Amino acid sequence: MPDLQKAAKRAAGEQVASMITSGMKLGLGTGSTAAMAIEALGVRIQKEGLQVCGVPTSFASERLARECGIPLTTLDQTPVLDLAFDGADEVDKNFIVIKGRGAAQTREKIVAAQAKRFVILIDEGKLVDKLGTRMPLPVEIVPMAATPVMNVLIALGARPEIRMGLRKDGPVVSDQGLWILDAMFNEITDPEHVNRVLLNTPGVVDHGLFIDMVTDVLIGLSDGSVRTMARR
Ligand code: 5RP
Repeated sequence: MPDLQKAAKRAAGEQVASMITSGMKLGLGTGSTAAMAIEALGVRIQKEGLQVCGVPTSFASERLARECGIPLTTLDQTPVLDLAFDGADEVDKNFIVIKGRGAAQTREKIVAAQAKRFVILIDEGKLVDKLGTRMPLPVEIVPMAATPVMNVLIALGARPEIRMGLRKDGPVVSDQGLWILDAMFNEITDPEHVNRVLLNTPGVVDHGLFIDMVTDVLIGLSDGSVRTMARR
């Protein structure tokens, strides 16, 4: 990752860590930007004795949080969260986001849905005028439904592909043991329609469009400053 982008992501990660106060119950996102927030939170726990606990959104964030000394919990033990933070792949002006480059979108959405505040951490490059123009939409599926779901995505105007493993033969297997389809659109003009169709398709577990969930977006800039978008 280029140094300037890293600095921007770190700025957003540190900013959300600075918003956390003792007693908060947190959702811990997945990806390189969320990882910087987890690390910054770990530093505060160590230096200030901050008392928090967090629900991780993936095996990756669980392992990192443990390394950083963040006490972990589950939604069974802690069903209401004060704040969840996470990265994103695309963010539009209506606070709709696409997530799931790291294949964690299903758990990320479950955790975000339990949080009073859902804070998205990005660098400027993730802001888009039109959704679905830069990154594919990840769709998590039961493997036997691959072809029927791909046909639904084609009917929605997308070009779907099964996400394949790197340093592993065959499809990527999610933390749930499922497959991911990456659906490239020219543009997602009607996210609500795509959401409805996908959630009504047997074999689809969830997808990476997050609609009406985000409360704040922290945009890290390469000079280390942070711009905030808050949804009223
Ligand atoms: C993982 C995600 C990530 O949060 C998203 O891909 C952003 O990642 P990064 O902060 O590394 O750019 O949705 O499933």
